[in-house]
Amino acid sequence: MSAINDKVMSDDRATNERFINERIAADRAHLLHPLHHPNAVAQPLVWVKGSGAIITDATGREFIDGLAGLWNVNVGHGRAELAEAARDQMATLAYHSAYAGATNFPAIALAEKLGALTSPSVNTFFFVSGGAEASESSFKTARFYWKARGKSSKVKVISRLRGYHGVTLAAMSATGLSAYWPMFEPRTPGFLHIEAPDPYRFVNTDPTISQGVAAANKLEEAILREGADTVAAFIAEPVQGAGGVIVPPPDYFQRIRQICDTYDVLLIADEVITGFGRTGRWFGLEHYDVEPDILQFAKGITSGYVPLGGIGISDELRDVINGVPPSQRWMHAFTYSAHPTCCAVALKNIEIIEREALVSRADVGGRRLLERLRRFEGMDGVGHVRGQGMMAAVEVVANKATKERFPPEAGLADRLVAAMLARGLYTRVQLDCILIAPPLITSDNVIDRIGQIVGESVKEVLTQIG
Ligand SMILES: Cc1ncc(COP(=O)(O)O)c(C=O)c1O
Repeated sequence: MSAINDKVMSDDRATNERFINERIAADRAHLLHPLHHPNAVAQPLVWVKGSGAIITDATGREFIDGLAGLWNVNVGHGRAELAEAARDQMATLAYHSAYAGATNFPAIALAEKLGALTSPSVNTFFFVSGGAEASESSFKTARFYWKARGKSSKVKVISRLRGYHGVTLAAMSATGLSAYWPMFEPRTPGFLHIEAPDPYRFVNTDPTISQGVAAANKLEEAILREGADTVAAFIAEPVQGAGGVIVPPPDYFQRIRQICDTYDVLLIADEVITGFGRTGRWFGLEHYDVEPDILQFAKGITSGYVPLGGIGISDELRDVINGVPPSQRWMHAFTYSAHPTCCAVALKNIEIIEREALVSRADVGGRRLLERLRRFEGMDGVGHVRGQGMMAAVEVVANKATKERFPPEAGLADRLVAAMLARGLYTRVQLDCILIAPPLITSDNVIDRIGQIVGESVKEVLTQIG
């Protein structure tokens, strides 16, 4: 344990408590947290340790990590191998620039490896530090591509409601969760949303086509409304994570690909959550046998041990980017693009995923998880249970017949989180959906325990708010 965490390991409980409270006061004085409001949390959890699928707080309490950090700790906590990979690379060359004219071995090896893992047509990679930077890179690359092809009016980006693509300004504008917008408006012009392909809530009014095709056709309608000559790209998560683990109908993405091809619109797959085994395949779009033009990733590429994200582009895009005159070059860059230490950790992380067959583990464990959660589908208040691989959600509703949600005053999310915490499961609740995405290594016993805790917690909370 690191020196700073050691301080809370005193045998004297009162000393520990004093120390923790003093640190929490310092946190309040000096930290702005993501999604911050100072009154929202009376007593934050102070995480000090992780091992496998279990995380420990400063008071020594252990919890199942129900969301694998933030959907990213795919290989589980406490992997000394990843620390060693970082240490070795740091001791050799922690960092240097990979701007044009320079490169480094870990970044080359990682790009080569990703070329073998991603769709056959995606073989060229650009590395960033996280998901939002990946989104920005995708949008700019899509615009660049169309400009390079002489179609400079193609600049708009279409995304889905309940989609999450990060919260830098353009990424936030693509993000389809409106809670993120109001205090940062105006959003970037040229970003618009279509309905999510939510099998539970999407209403298909055309009996001659499937729900998946009807949901995909919303993209065609939007392109025709805006004018195909103004639309650069469509961005979509293969499974919408933060929006409530929305698994699209099986024919959705085939139709999306068709529409993108018809109207010359690039398909950006946001695989930030679904990449690196989470859905039981290396990448989520594989389930639908569809290839993207741009594939963006982050999170699971390093299992969260160090920050890394990126985009992969199709050979067609690469050829166009490489084919422009030098004066029009791709002027896009981050200091930490292709960070050698982060790339070295990613390589080791991918090695672990392969060695331990964690992609198929996510498939098998995920089926078990879904089966356990589906046992509650008959319960009052459980509207829908869904998942793919090791990501699942239980959507809680006030009225199963009408699918009506509880009013905000009911405090459903906070109550559910508290009930699960009291039973030893830490996760998030978004839009009344309990989100479950533990590390891919999570054992069957722990998966069963997650199911049990979710069931008991929903029952308890529904009794409270009836
Ligand atoms: C699908 C998806 N895209 C992009 C992002 C943004 O990633 P980051 O928080 O690293 O900017 C996230 C984060 O949860 C995500 O789930």
